[in-house]
Amino acid sequence: MELTRETFHNEIKNFRSQMKPEAVSLAEQSLFLEKKGSVGVIVFDQAGEKANKLSSANMIRFFELLCQAESDPTIKALVVISKKPSIFIAGADIGEIRTLASGSTSADSLMKLQSVFTYLENLPIPSIAAIHGASMGGGTELALGCDYRMATDSPQTKIGLPEVMLGLIPGWGGTQRMPRLIGLEKSLDLILTGKTVDSGKAKKMGLVDKIVPAEYLEERAIAWANELAQTGKKRVYETRSLKEKILGTVPGGTWLVCDQARKQVMEKTKGNFPAPLKAIEVIRKTYGGPIDKGLKVEAEAFIELMVTPESQNLIHVFYLNEGVKKDKGVEGKVSSRTVGHAAVIGAGVMGGGIAQLFAAKGVRVRLKDVNWDAIMKGYHVAKKIFQKSVDRRKMKSSDLDNAMARIEGTTQYTGFGKLDLVVEAAVENMEVKKSIFKQLEEKVAETTFLATNTSSLSVTELASVTRHPQRVVGMHFFNPVDKMLLVEVIRGAQTSDEAVATLVAFSKVLGKTPIVVKDSPGFVVNRILGPYLNEAIHLLMEGVRPREMDAVIEQFGMPMGPCALIDEVGLDVASKVSQVLYGAFGERMKPPATMAQVVEQKRLGKKVGKGIYIHNNNERHEDEEMLKVFGTKPRATDLTDEVVQRRLIYLMINEASRCVEEGLVRQVSDIDVGMIFGTGFAPFRGGLLKYADSLGAETILSDLDVFVRKYGNRFQPSKLLQELAVNKKKFYDTKESHQ
Ligand code: NAI
Repeated sequence: MELTRETFHNEIKNFRSQMKPEAVSLAEQSLFLEKKGSVGVIVFDQAGEKANKLSSANMIRFFELLCQAESDPTIKALVVISKKPSIFIAGADIGEIRTLASGSTSADSLMKLQSVFTYLENLPIPSIAAIHGASMGGGTELALGCDYRMATDSPQTKIGLPEVMLGLIPGWGGTQRMPRLIGLEKSLDLILTGKTVDSGKAKKMGLVDKIVPAEYLEERAIAWANELAQTGKKRVYETRSLKEKILGTVPGGTWLVCDQARKQVMEKTKGNFPAPLKAIEVIRKTYGGPIDKGLKVEAEAFIELMVTPESQNLIHVFYLNEGVKKDKGVEGKVSSRTVGHAAVIGAGVMGGGIAQLFAAKGVRVRLKDVNWDAIMKGYHVAKKIFQKSVDRRKMKSSDLDNAMARIEGTTQYTGFGKLDLVVEAAVENMEVKKSIFKQLEEKVAETTFLATNTSSLSVTELASVTRHPQRVVGMHFFNPVDKMLLVEVIRGAQTSDEAVATLVAFSKVLGKTPIVVKDSPGFVVNRILGPYLNEAIHLLMEGVRPREMDAVIEQFGMPMGPCALIDEVGLDVASKVSQVLYGAFGERMKPPATMAQVVEQKRLGKKVGKGIYIHNNNERHEDEEMLKVFGTKPRATDLTDEVVQRRLIYLMINEASRCVEEGLVRQVSDIDVGMIFGTGFAPFRGGLLKYADSLGAETILSDLDVFVRKYGNRFQPSKLLQELAVNKKKFYDTKESHQ
């Protein structure tokens, strides 16, 4: 259906009549037109919210304001601006996309909203998007619909089209106007990765025309609009670089660039994410052609993607994340305390990383170890992480010096009297940790929270040696601290709500994603990984080659396979964790004896250059000698890739099910948050238990029954899984709170 300018008003009117009056009224309170001389200023200020969103009601309201501006002969130019302190427009309303996906939205109805920006583009008067703060998705598409873009130099100003992160493509003209404005290659880079750029980069790319200080944005935008009002000059698309010009003239040039992009996407995603592939297809089909046809192709592709399980799962993950942002980690009204001054005990791999993270977020930190050599190692760990940011131009070297100055090394407990928090990250030994906690109690104020980064020891037992066990809590970071987003906040038997709430709030200040977990061996993530890693060894012993196994799991969507992961973690560490889990949970967690044998041979993994693989300059090679250690049994013909995948993944599902059953997490979704942010579990599958729900408990159960008979009792299904199968229920149907 083609919308002409004449039919436009009627179509929009129809659309408006279908909207709820409350939505229309909210939009009227959130968007308005101000007149500044001959310049019309459309202001976005979403009522009652921190962010401006492009709901359908807001789009219609925006359209009405465009019409008002157009029909006022005294308005000669237009500025679109936000009143929010750090957001221009955060994008389309994702809640609405979710409801649309479950209904029967057609490309036609999407195109009606899409046409609002076409209307903006075709206004007879020039328009400027004045951008301060985040301009995401639909916000950027609105800005692209304007003739010009002015952005502030603030670090808060970030521009991007992150739709692929939700399994979608830009659906309001982004795949059309961005390539026309900045060229094919740069657009593909932004659209396919969903990454954002600051205003400096955006200017270099041609995405914005002018940069101004934040405090002058409105003033400068109006001044510029006044100039434009004199000439009435509209945007003219021009191909920017010479390369782009050549691309445009060489037959098949667009195809070549798109083909290259497709190869890169396939390599990175194994084809598991349909959205970037669809974006390439749309751009390949439409680049250089008429925009109205392009917009139609874009809308059709958007509708197609919206109903894919991948998009629905990625939107589910988006909501999981939103849930974490709002969750205080405790029920009821509990206040948390601010952490401004902390200490880290143990300056090893983890301690150095934690100190770096604290310092990067402006927290002053005392870094204590047994001697200066050890402290220097911790310093080195921290500095290396900062240096990477400097090398990538994400940080100035002067800021590196300031941040490092926030870390003060010490071998004594000096300065411990005024701390808000101490995080212990010394060696994994209960006696050492107990002695540290006893000493700490003598040195810190009564109000200081005492956290441990232990990966397997009991927080409750550790707390039992202190006089105030209520202030003792687990703060389990994952390695490497600067990259892994998850923090498990461990609630010991006597940990206070205030301690949990403070650690949850502080984890968020650090930019991490916290989940609250009850004290239990391996907590949640390592416990779920335990049987998975053991199973990898069983499979090696049954003749599956490491590369084959890793490929199966990468294809499933994990960032790396279990053999690569074991080498990354270190066989000594993995073996130690398995022993703890075996001790706690018995036979089903028993590590195959071969694991200990490999450790004895000092094949400890990547850190020593050889483990399951041989490691050379970040490359992994299979090692026939090593494979012999696991045995020479040929792989059975019925041990297909599919079976390998199920054996590995189902054991994780089964263990996660037990964690839910035992009430270790506060809600089922916490398992999925933990697995996605702690292990990189395939986000397009929505998380481990969301994936289990998509298969259905019955399916999993019938496979597990076969596996028990064939491979042993470790596949015995959990009670909850059996109940779900009998009652035809899903994990996400179970009572959300288990505490
Ligand atoms: P590491 O061996 O690299 O560092 C431990 C540091 O603690 C050493 O510098 C050592 O000198 C110091 N230390 C030992 N006794 C001490 C004492 N009494 N007072 C002060 N410092 C003392 O160990 P890593 O890997 O950093 O692990 C530290 C903790 O973090 C352990 O509890 C470990 O289980 C946990 N963890 C480790 C992870 C990993 O992947 N390495 C992941 C998550 C947690």
